[in-house]
Amino acid sequence: MSVERKAPGAQRGAIDARVLRALLFTGLLASSGCEWFTDFKRQPHVVTWESWSPETLSVRGSPQGSVPTDGTAMPAYMVSYAPMPATIDSMAGIANPVPVSEASLAAGRKHYQINCAVCHGDNGDGVSIGSRYGLISFPLTSDVTKARTDGYIFGMIRNGRASMPSYNRIEERDRWDVVNYIRALQGRVTDVPFERGPLAMPGVTGDKVPGPGTLGPTRAIPHRPTSGGAR
Ligand code: HEC
Repeated sequence: MSVERKAPGAQRGAIDARVLRALLFTGLLASSGCEWFTDFKRQPHVVTWESWSPETLSVRGSPQGSVPTDGTAMPAYMVSYAPMPATIDSMAGIANPVPVSEASLAAGRKHYQINCAVCHGDNGDGVSIGSRYGLISFPLTSDVTKARTDGYIFGMIRNGRASMPSYNRIEERDRWDVVNYIRALQGRVTDVPFERGPLAMPGVTGDKVPGPGTLGPTRAIPHRPTSGGAR
């Protein structure tokens, strides 16, 4: 029996071919986008603050008493929530950071019609459903209220006073829209058009009611991929 021996050159050639094949295979793997180390981090998942579909909201707005990072007023611990004249007065100096614009007045109108008109009336003159049924009518268009500062009206919404409850549920930023709207009802806004009165029949939603607030993390996070699918 004769032992077939390959010449040293031929053997080297075979090894070279094997190395080449291995290199080619690795190269193919790399270019195909396959990964060696897939771990549990790489799978479809919901990240912090993200809603799991564009229609669902993951978390509600910040709880009352939170200090907003881009807040306009002072934190809760600096001003009492007591519905008393002194605490309202203490907010009179807060500057209104929201300029009067058509968008601000339109948003203010929505909040006003939902929360305030029942007592203060569609025109802010105190002629309201509440006054028709015996509630003391309190106009916002008197010279006294016209002379109040924006911060004071903001404070009234935040704390309430006497038989006016707190409307703190209107988010801080949106409250300034209501302040602007009251200024418009008072006739102090002359250069920006606005509308007054109810927007729709009760129960109608969509663009007739205020959207999600801007301070709380109630919107889908901005880096949501537009195409969808796994990340
Ligand atoms: C339940 C009825 C009621 C509702 C609803 C209501 N208010 Fe009032 N509001 C009153 C009463 C009553 C007063 C007078 C309080 C007092 O005499 O201390 C008042 C006072 C005020 C004042 C103070 C005016 C001043 O010159 O001192 C402002 C500003 C005001 N309301 C704005 C609003 C806004 C804005 C809303 C909606 C977010 C609202 N109110 C909702 C009943 C109401």
